[in-house]
Amino acid sequence: VKRSGRITDAAEIRKRIDAQGRWWHEIELAPGIVTPGDDTNQSKLPILERIGLPKDLSGRRVLDIGCSDGYFAFVCEERGADVLAIDFVPEDYTGFNTAKTILGSGVEYSMESVYNLSPDKHGCFDVVLCLGVLYHLRNPMAALDAIRSIMNTKAELFVATFMIDEHFIRADGTVGKLSDLHPELQEIPIWQAYPRGSLNGDHTNCFGPNMCALLTALREANLDPLQHEALPGAGFVRARAGSDVLAEKYQRLDQRLHKTAFDPSVPYYLDELGEVHDVTEAGKEHQRSQSKKKMGLLAKLIGR
Ligand SMILES: C[S@@+](CC[C@H](N)C(=O)[O-])C[C@H]1O[C@@H](n2cnc3c(N)ncnc32)[C@H](O)[C@@H]1O
Repeated sequence: VKRSGRITDAAEIRKRIDAQGRWWHEIELAPGIVTPGDDTNQSKLPILERIGLPKDLSGRRVLDIGCSDGYFAFVCEERGADVLAIDFVPEDYTGFNTAKTILGSGVEYSMESVYNLSPDKHGCFDVVLCLGVLYHLRNPMAALDAIRSIMNTKAELFVATFMIDEHFIRADGTVGKLSDLHPELQEIPIWQAYPRGSLNGDHTNCFGPNMCALLTALREANLDPLQHEALPGAGFVRARAGSDVLAEKYQRLDQRLHKTAFDPSVPYYLDELGEVHDVTEAGKEHQRSQSKKKMGLLAKLIGR
């Protein structure tokens, strides 16, 4: 662990914890001194371990997305990893900086949104944590695409999210199991939307997936789910960077249209598996003649 200058004086630690005031995580900063967050972070760790988070992360580069006070980033650092923690709020807005100073931690922090992750800017990682973030995002697939782009070959992503299988909000506002509506709904990828703070009055809650939708979204982002665990209201998945050529192609296509002005010379749509056509006039003419040929062949076949 690359820690130095750890503060050990109990009174000084308590003073700094109180001065911060706003805590989300419970972090034991010294024996018996725990930050006063009311999150269940400590009970999430054994679940992550059950689905495969290694006890030894030496030599691994880890990214903690939406790190808040940094509990999981500090755990990974203790396990030997070189850690980058990101969150879209400043590091003093949460308890991150206070905890980092007290621990003498070497975890690097970057105020960054998940959507801006890029291999050019951040490099690539062996283990990525995206815990309690996905259901806050207006564009969950764009986030998963960005996450996939900063993962090394065989890197693993750990996702934890609010899930709707046991917490589906019906039209009348009552909450129940998705399978009580119809058992088949569990086998269909579904995201429930939460406009105007309709989940717990929190306007930053956007979309909740069922487990089927979470696994589907990961596959669509070229991530292969390896292990998962569902708890009432929450889902945990470990997924490995995949190599699905088609998923990759659609990721690139979507990103290009997102980030650049429309360019008619760029291959735009697929009409047959794996075949890219362009939308220039020449391309369209080629398409028209191809489909005329096909129609002619069809007419012959059916004897007209
Ligand atoms: C519910 S907390 C989860 C904190 C921690 N990861 C955990 O599991 O305990 C969600 C965190 O995600 C951060 N967040 C939300 N949207 C984000 C985004 N677009 N990019 C980076 N962080 C984001 C929030 O600031 C917050 O700290």
